[in-house]
Amino acid sequence: MLDRILEGAIRGTSSSGNMQAFSIIVTTDPALKQALYPLHFEQDMVLEAPAFVTFCADFHRMRRWLEASDAPDNFDNLMSFMIGAIDAILVAQSAALAAEQEGLGLCFLGTTLANCAAISEVLQLPANVVPVVGFSLGYAAEAPGPRDRLPTHGLVHRNVYQAPDVREIYEARQSRGWARYMQDDQLRAMVEASGVQNLAQLYTTVKYTRESHQAYSATILDCLERQNFLAG
Ligand SMILES: Cc1cc2nc3c(=O)[nH]c(=O)nc-3n(C[C@H](O)[C@H](O)[C@H](O)COP(=O)(O)O)c2cc1C
Repeated sequence: MLDRILEGAIRGTSSSGNMQAFSIIVTTDPALKQALYPLHFEQDMVLEAPAFVTFCADFHRMRRWLEASDAPDNFDNLMSFMIGAIDAILVAQSAALAAEQEGLGLCFLGTTLANCAAISEVLQLPANVVPVVGFSLGYAAEAPGPRDRLPTHGLVHRNVYQAPDVREIYEARQSRGWARYMQDDQLRAMVEASGVQNLAQLYTTVKYTRESHQAYSATILDCLERQNFLAG
């Protein structure tokens, strides 16, 4: 089933110049999943689901082919990383949709990028390969209801960008999102301990702090440099 999902995703996904500048790493080995677990901030699905799938921007393969073919290598720069990252993200979403079609469940983990350097070591990634997104994959143990979305008119602009009416666009999110945190004993305790008063404050005081985002940004830049994507 996994082969069918990934082959279908690869077949059906556009890729810049058809270079397919991505690699997909399917981790099922329990020892490796255990090594990934702390790097994904001990989110239980990494251990509980039978597979963790990591999608990487990858110019390693392409660059080796260029070298073997006496062709110039122009892929040690940020543009190349972005091309690989876009390819990797597109194929990941295709695989996610295919997996759901097969009746599987998955959860994307942003920790894949936040901890890209350490995850690269566990997965033994060579130069010019950077993990970008990943998801745990298996049969879902729960069937939670759908999460809300911002209203479409707040996301879609006709012809040119329309100034957003921020209050209106976030009105339902502010109240429903807050209610969601309050319904769960563990989450409510965390919110109460933090002293935040609304969902917006929760986002940037608890979930996405300046310190954490600065630290992740430094990790990503360091990883890109080490993986030879910042040569200029
Ligand atoms: C790039 C990315 C990173 C994510 N990281 C996490 C994560 O670390 N932990 C988690 O539980 N969910 C994570 N999610 C899942 C989102 O929270 C989820 O997609 C969102 O709440 C909407 O829910 P839905 O996908 O069920 O509609 C991530 C999703 C994306 C796209």
